[in-house]
Amino acid sequence: MSAAGATIASARRAAAERLAAAGLPEASLDARLLLMSVCGIDPAHPGAAAQRALDPAEAARFEALLHRRLARQPIARILGTAEFHGLALTLNPDCLIPRGDTEALVDVSLALLPVDAPRRILDLGTGPGTILLALLVERPLATGLGIDISAHAVAAAEANASALGLAPRARFQAGSWGEGLAGTFDLVVSNPPYIPSATCEALEPEVALHDPRRALDGGADGLDAYRAILADALRLLAPGGRLGLEIGIGQAPDVVAIARRHGLVLDGLRSDLGAVPRALVFRPA
Ligand SMILES: C[S@@+](CC[C@H](N)C(=O)[O-])C[C@H]1O[C@@H](n2cnc3c(N)ncnc32)[C@H](O)[C@@H]1O
Repeated sequence: MSAAGATIASARRAAAERLAAAGLPEASLDARLLLMSVCGIDPAHPGAAAQRALDPAEAARFEALLHRRLARQPIARILGTAEFHGLALTLNPDCLIPRGDTEALVDVSLALLPVDAPRRILDLGTGPGTILLALLVERPLATGLGIDISAHAVAAAEANASALGLAPRARFQAGSWGEGLAGTFDLVVSNPPYIPSATCEALEPEVALHDPRRALDGGADGLDAYRAILADALRLLAPGGRLGLEIGIGQAPDVVAIARRHGLVLDGLRSDLGAVPRALVFRPA
Protein backbone atom coordinates (compact mmCIF):
# COMPACT_ATOMS: atom_id res chain seq x y z
CA MET A 1 0.00 0.00 0.00
CA SER A 2 1.57 3.34 -1.05
CA ALA A 3 0.47 6.85 -0.13
CA ALA A 4 2.32 8.46 -3.09
CA GLY A 5 0.20 11.28 -4.52
CA ALA A 6 -2.09 11.36 -1.47
CA THR A 7 -2.14 14.55 0.56
CA ILE A 8 -0.38 14.48 3.92
CA ALA A 9 -3.77 14.85 5.63
CA SER A 10 -5.34 11.88 3.82
CA ALA A 11 -2.23 9.72 4.24
CA ARG A 12 -2.37 10.43 7.97
CA ARG A 13 -6.04 9.45 8.20
CA ALA A 14 -5.52 6.21 6.27
CA ALA A 15 -2.50 5.28 8.39
CA ALA A 16 -4.37 6.05 11.62
CA GLU A 17 -7.15 3.71 10.51
CA ARG A 18 -4.68 0.89 9.84
CA LEU A 19 -2.96 1.38 13.20
CA ALA A 20 -6.31 1.54 15.03
CA ALA A 21 -7.48 -1.63 13.28
CA ALA A 22 -4.31 -3.32 14.59
CA GLY A 23 -5.32 -2.33 18.13
CA LEU A 24 -2.78 0.42 18.72
CA PRO A 25 -4.24 2.78 21.31
CA GLU A 26 -2.59 6.01 20.11
CA ALA A 27 -3.17 5.37 16.40
CA SER A 28 -3.85 8.94 15.37
CA LEU A 29 -0.91 10.41 17.28
CA ASP A 30 1.43 7.67 16.05
CA ALA A 31 0.44 8.27 12.41
CA ARG A 32 0.99 11.99 12.81
CA LEU A 33 4.44 11.64 14.42
CA LEU A 34 5.67 9.18 11.79
CA LEU A 35 4.38 11.27 8.93
CA MET A 36 5.86 14.49 10.30
CA SER A 37 9.23 12.82 10.66
CA VAL A 38 9.12 11.49 7.07
CA CYS A 39 8.04 14.83 5.61
CA GLY A 40 10.27 16.96 7.81
CA ILE A 41 7.34 18.87 9.29
CA ASP A 42 7.87 20.78 12.52
CA PRO A 43 5.47 19.21 15.11
CA ALA A 44 4.85 22.71 16.48
CA HIS A 45 3.51 23.95 13.10
CA PRO A 46 1.94 20.99 11.32
CA GLY A 47 -0.98 22.85 9.67
CA ALA A 48 0.39 24.46 6.52
CA ALA A 49 1.72 21.28 4.90
CA ALA A 50 -1.49 19.22 5.27
CA GLN A 51 -2.66 19.66 1.66
CA ARG A 52 0.73 18.96 0.05
CA ALA A 53 1.03 15.60 -1.75
CA LEU A 54 3.56 12.97 -0.63
CA ASP A 55 6.23 12.26 -3.20
CA PRO A 56 7.05 8.58 -3.96
CA ALA A 57 10.17 8.53 -1.78
CA GLU A 58 8.26 9.97 1.19
CA ALA A 59 5.41 7.53 0.65
CA ALA A 60 7.82 4.58 0.62
CA ARG A 61 9.59 5.77 3.78
CA PHE A 62 6.25 6.34 5.51
CA GLU A 63 5.07 2.85 4.61
CA ALA A 64 8.29 1.33 6.01
CA LEU A 65 7.85 3.20 9.30
CA LEU A 66 4.20 2.20 9.51
CA HIS A 67 5.20 -1.44 9.12
CA ARG A 68 7.57 -1.09 12.05
CA ARG A 69 4.82 0.41 14.21
CA LEU A 70 2.37 -2.29 13.13
CA ALA A 71 5.02 -4.78 14.32
CA ARG A 72 4.74 -3.02 17.72
CA GLN A 73 8.03 -1.15 17.67
CA PRO A 74 7.61 1.90 19.94
CA ILE A 75 7.50 5.31 18.26
CA ALA A 76 10.61 6.44 20.16
CA ARG A 77 12.47 3.37 18.89
CA ILE A 78 11.40 4.03 15.29
CA LEU A 79 12.28 7.72 15.41
CA GLY A 80 15.42 7.12 17.51
CA THR A 81 14.58 9.96 19.84
CA ALA A 82 12.58 10.49 23.02
CA GLU A 83 11.63 13.36 25.26
CA PHE A 84 12.55 13.25 28.96
CA HIS A 85 12.17 16.06 31.49
CA GLY A 86 11.96 18.54 28.63
CA LEU A 87 15.08 17.21 26.87
CA ALA A 88 15.19 15.56 23.44
CA LEU A 89 17.41 12.48 23.78
CA THR A 90 18.78 10.44 20.89
CA LEU A 91 18.53 6.69 21.43
CA ASN A 92 20.19 3.65 19.91
CA PRO A 93 19.02 0.04 20.33
CA ASP A 94 21.08 -0.37 23.54
CA CYS A 95 19.20 2.47 25.25
CA LEU A 96 16.05 2.07 27.33
CA ILE A 97 13.36 4.48 26.20
CA PRO A 98 13.11 6.95 29.11
CA ARG A 99 9.95 6.52 31.20
CA GLY A 100 7.87 9.22 32.84
CA ASP A 101 8.17 7.30 36.14
CA THR A 102 11.86 8.25 36.27
CA GLU A 103 10.95 11.92 36.66
CA ALA A 104 10.27 11.09 40.36
CA LEU A 105 13.97 10.29 40.85
CA VAL A 106 15.00 13.43 38.95
CA ASP A 107 12.69 15.60 41.05
CA VAL A 108 13.83 14.16 44.38
CA SER A 109 17.47 14.52 43.25
CA LEU A 110 17.02 18.17 42.26
CA ALA A 111 15.71 18.85 45.76
CA LEU A 112 19.07 17.55 47.08
CA LEU A 113 21.21 19.65 44.73
CA PRO A 114 21.60 23.36 45.49
CA VAL A 115 21.56 25.57 42.38
CA ASP A 116 24.65 27.52 43.44
CA ALA A 117 27.05 24.73 44.48
CA PRO A 118 29.42 22.59 42.38
CA ARG A 119 28.03 19.17 43.29
CA ARG A 120 29.46 15.92 41.83
CA ILE A 121 26.93 13.40 40.55
CA LEU A 122 27.36 9.72 39.64
CA ASP A 123 24.66 8.03 37.50
CA LEU A 124 24.93 4.23 37.50
CA GLY A 125 23.24 2.59 34.49
CA THR A 126 22.97 5.93 32.72
CA GLY A 127 21.64 4.60 29.38
CA PRO A 128 21.50 7.58 26.98
CA GLY A 129 22.42 9.87 29.88
CA THR A 130 18.79 10.26 30.89
CA ILE A 131 18.98 11.15 34.59
CA LEU A 132 22.43 12.74 34.65
CA LEU A 133 21.72 15.11 31.76
CA ALA A 134 18.32 16.09 33.20
CA LEU A 135 20.10 17.03 36.44
CA LEU A 136 23.02 18.87 34.82
CA VAL A 137 20.68 21.02 32.72
CA GLU A 138 19.02 22.27 35.91
CA ARG A 139 22.20 22.62 38.00
CA PRO A 140 24.72 24.70 36.01
CA LEU A 141 27.59 24.27 38.49
CA ALA A 142 27.24 20.50 38.84
CA THR A 143 29.43 17.95 37.09
CA GLY A 144 28.73 14.27 36.54
CA LEU A 145 29.93 10.83 35.59
CA GLY A 146 27.61 8.32 33.90
CA ILE A 147 28.41 4.59 33.84
CA ASP A 148 26.79 1.91 31.74
CA ILE A 149 27.62 -1.71 30.99
CA SER A 150 26.84 -0.99 27.32
CA ALA A 151 29.48 0.88 25.32
CA HIS A 152 26.73 1.73 22.78
CA ALA A 153 24.59 3.33 25.47
CA VAL A 154 27.67 5.30 26.60
CA ALA A 155 28.15 6.52 23.01
CA ALA A 156 24.52 7.71 22.92
CA ALA A 157 24.97 9.48 26.26
CA GLU A 158 28.09 11.26 24.98
CA ALA A 159 26.26 12.36 21.82
CA ASN A 160 23.32 13.64 23.88
CA ALA A 161 25.64 15.54 26.22
CA SER A 162 27.29 17.24 23.23
CA ALA A 163 23.97 18.06 21.57
CA LEU A 164 22.74 19.66 24.79
CA GLY A 165 25.95 21.62 25.36
CA LEU A 166 26.67 19.63 28.52
CA ALA A 167 29.80 17.76 27.36
CA PRO A 168 32.18 19.98 29.41
CA ARG A 169 30.41 18.91 32.60
CA ALA A 170 29.47 15.30 31.79
CA ARG A 171 31.78 12.30 31.45
CA PHE A 172 30.64 8.82 30.52
CA GLN A 173 32.41 5.49 30.64
CA ALA A 174 31.59 1.82 30.21
CA GLY A 175 31.69 -0.26 33.37
CA SER A 176 29.69 -2.34 35.82
CA TRP A 177 27.96 -0.24 38.50
CA GLY A 178 30.56 1.23 40.89
CA GLU A 179 33.25 -1.35 40.11
CA GLY A 180 36.72 0.17 39.92
CA LEU A 181 35.53 3.75 40.41
CA ALA A 182 37.74 5.96 42.52
CA GLY A 183 36.67 9.12 44.32
CA THR A 184 33.43 10.16 45.95
CA PHE A 185 30.26 11.91 44.86
CA ASP A 186 27.71 14.20 46.51
CA LEU A 187 24.87 12.37 44.82
CA VAL A 188 24.78 8.85 43.40
CA VAL A 189 21.67 8.01 41.38
CA SER A 190 20.52 4.88 39.63
CA ASN A 191 17.50 3.53 37.82
CA PRO A 192 18.73 -0.06 37.52
CA PRO A 193 16.99 -3.01 35.87
CA TYR A 194 14.42 -4.21 38.41
CA ILE A 195 11.93 -6.49 36.68
CA PRO A 196 12.00 -10.14 37.84
CA SER A 197 13.34 -12.32 34.99
CA ALA A 198 10.16 -14.39 34.65
CA THR A 199 8.02 -11.26 34.30
CA CYS A 200 10.15 -9.88 31.44
CA GLU A 201 8.60 -12.35 29.00
CA ALA A 202 5.09 -11.21 29.85
CA LEU A 203 5.70 -7.50 29.22
CA GLU A 204 3.87 -5.85 26.32
CA PRO A 205 5.67 -6.40 22.97
CA GLU A 206 6.86 -2.77 22.75
CA VAL A 207 8.93 -3.40 25.90
CA ALA A 208 9.72 -7.13 25.79
CA LEU A 209 10.89 -7.11 22.17
CA HIS A 210 12.33 -3.62 21.78
CA ASP A 211 13.85 -2.45 25.07
CA PRO A 212 17.27 -3.98 25.79
CA ARG A 213 16.89 -6.97 28.10
CA ARG A 214 19.77 -5.88 30.31
CA ALA A 215 17.98 -2.60 30.97
CA LEU A 216 14.95 -4.50 32.29
CA ASP A 217 15.97 -7.82 33.83
CA GLY A 218 16.77 -7.58 37.54
CA GLY A 219 17.36 -11.31 38.05
CA ALA A 220 15.13 -13.92 39.71
CA ASP A 221 13.58 -11.55 42.28
CA GLY A 222 14.30 -8.28 40.44
CA LEU A 223 16.77 -7.15 43.13
CA ASP A 224 20.18 -8.25 41.75
CA ALA A 225 21.24 -4.74 40.69
CA TYR A 226 20.26 -3.24 44.06
CA ARG A 227 22.43 -5.83 45.82
CA ALA A 228 25.40 -4.92 43.62
CA ILE A 229 24.92 -1.14 43.82
CA LEU A 230 24.20 -1.01 47.54
CA ALA A 231 27.20 -3.21 48.40
CA ASP A 232 29.43 -0.50 46.93
CA ALA A 233 27.48 2.68 47.61
CA LEU A 234 28.85 3.78 50.97
CA ARG A 235 32.41 4.07 49.68
CA LEU A 236 31.23 6.23 46.74
CA LEU A 237 29.45 8.83 48.87
CA ALA A 238 31.20 12.04 49.93
CA PRO A 239 30.50 13.32 53.46
CA GLY A 240 26.85 14.42 53.52
CA GLY A 241 26.26 12.54 50.25
CA ARG A 242 23.02 10.82 49.26
CA LEU A 243 22.04 7.85 47.11
CA GLY A 244 18.83 7.99 45.05
CA LEU A 245 17.35 4.81 43.59
CA GLU A 246 14.35 4.23 41.37
CA ILE A 247 12.43 1.11 42.40
CA GLY A 248 9.71 -1.11 40.95
CA ILE A 249 6.25 -1.52 42.42
CA GLY A 250 6.38 -3.01 45.94
CA GLN A 251 10.18 -3.19 46.12
CA ALA A 252 10.70 -0.53 48.81
CA PRO A 253 10.82 -2.88 51.86
CA ASP A 254 13.34 -5.22 50.21
CA VAL A 255 15.55 -2.42 48.92
CA VAL A 256 15.50 -0.66 52.30
CA ALA A 257 16.50 -3.94 53.99
CA ILE A 258 19.42 -4.48 51.57
CA ALA A 259 20.55 -0.88 52.12
CA ARG A 260 20.47 -1.31 55.89
CA ARG A 261 22.77 -4.34 55.62
CA HIS A 262 25.25 -2.10 53.80
CA GLY A 263 25.16 0.80 56.28
CA LEU A 264 22.57 3.05 54.58
CA VAL A 265 19.22 4.21 55.94
CA LEU A 266 16.16 5.63 54.21
CA ASP A 267 16.17 9.42 54.10
CA GLY A 268 13.36 10.21 51.66
CA LEU A 269 10.77 8.76 49.31
CA ARG A 270 9.01 10.14 46.24
CA SER A 271 5.99 8.61 44.51
CA ASP A 272 5.30 8.77 40.80
CA LEU A 273 2.20 10.35 39.25
CA GLY A 274 0.29 7.11 39.89
CA ALA A 275 1.05 7.44 43.65
CA VAL A 276 3.43 4.45 43.48
CA PRO A 277 6.56 4.83 45.69
CA ARG A 278 9.16 5.17 42.92
CA ALA A 279 12.31 6.89 44.21
CA LEU A 280 14.12 6.18 47.50
CA VAL A 281 16.85 8.37 48.99
CA PHE A 282 19.45 6.88 51.33
CA ARG A 283 22.13 8.36 53.61
CA PRO A 284 24.88 6.70 55.62
CA ALA A 285 23.51 5.31 58.92
C1 LIG B 1 16.42 0.74 33.56
S1 LIG B 1 17.75 1.20 32.50
C2 LIG B 1 17.92 2.91 32.97
C3 LIG B 1 18.46 3.80 31.88
C4 LIG B 1 18.39 5.29 32.23
N1 LIG B 1 19.24 5.57 33.38
C5 LIG B 1 16.96 5.69 32.56
O1 LIG B 1 16.69 6.00 33.72
O2 LIG B 1 16.12 5.71 31.65
C6 LIG B 1 19.12 0.42 33.29
C7 LIG B 1 20.46 0.68 32.65
O3 LIG B 1 21.44 -0.06 33.41
C8 LIG B 1 22.39 -0.58 32.50
N2 LIG B 1 23.06 -1.72 33.16
C9 LIG B 1 22.65 -3.00 33.27
N3 LIG B 1 23.55 -3.70 33.96
C10 LIG B 1 24.55 -2.86 34.30
C11 LIG B 1 25.75 -3.00 35.04
N4 LIG B 1 26.16 -4.17 35.56
N5 LIG B 1 26.54 -1.90 35.21
C12 LIG B 1 26.18 -0.70 34.68
N6 LIG B 1 25.04 -0.51 33.97
C13 LIG B 1 24.23 -1.58 33.79
C14 LIG B 1 21.61 -0.93 31.26
O4 LIG B 1 22.44 -1.02 30.12
C15 LIG B 1 20.59 0.24 31.22
O5 LIG B 1 21.11 1.30 30.45
